[in-house]
Amino acid sequence: MSDALNYLLKVRPDAMKSYFDFIKKSGTHLDKKTKAIISVITKVDNQTETGFKQYLSRALQAGVTPDEIIDSLFIAFPSLGLTKIIWAIDIILKLDIPDFRVEQLGLGGDWHFIGKLIEVIDGVSRLELDEREVFVYRHGKTIKVYDTHCPHQVTNIPKLAVSGHVMTCPKHKWKFDIRTGKCIVVGDRPLKEYKSKVDGNKLYAFW
Ligand code: FES
Repeated sequence: MSDALNYLLKVRPDAMKSYFDFIKKSGTHLDKKTKAIISVITKVDNQTETGFKQYLSRALQAGVTPDEIIDSLFIAFPSLGLTKIIWAIDIILKLDIPDFRVEQLGLGGDWHFIGKLIEVIDGVSRLELDEREVFVYRHGKTIKVYDTHCPHQVTNIPKLAVSGHVMTCPKHKWKFDIRTGKCIVVGDRPLKEYKSKVDGNKLYAFW
């Protein structure tokens, strides 16, 4: 909550309680995803960056897909206009949310060289490639390649966050099992895993 809302809660508690009751009771006939999408659109319309990031994250957590977000922006075009839509997309691109990437939307994508197999050691490596950073987990013949961004709020997770088989995002402590990518504590979404393949003695991932 913003400092201003906190302040108003202290100096006008009754009025603000009514306001929050109103917010809570409005939209009771809407499902979670629809409410989340409407909130995102209002933040784009107001061009409040912090609020947009916050509600975008909530919408994704509510199960709204990137395609649905983009469609909603387009449907709201008569009100938003292209400028505000571009403003929102710029922020989304800066956040570098893996699910919004062109190839994740089923458009394009290619195999990328990750490293020579002999250099991919057992355990977890964090690699900085030209176009993105990845975690590579290897146990013998099992190899998994993950995006380094947390599925919660896109924090770029550092190598230090890995301890044994558990990776802990420093921001809100979601914990992931690096062997499967599954979130095992606090959160409910897995790491973004890329398809990978070994060709000769080279490891590739698809994005
Ligand atoms: S950003 Fe919240 S747990 Fe990673």
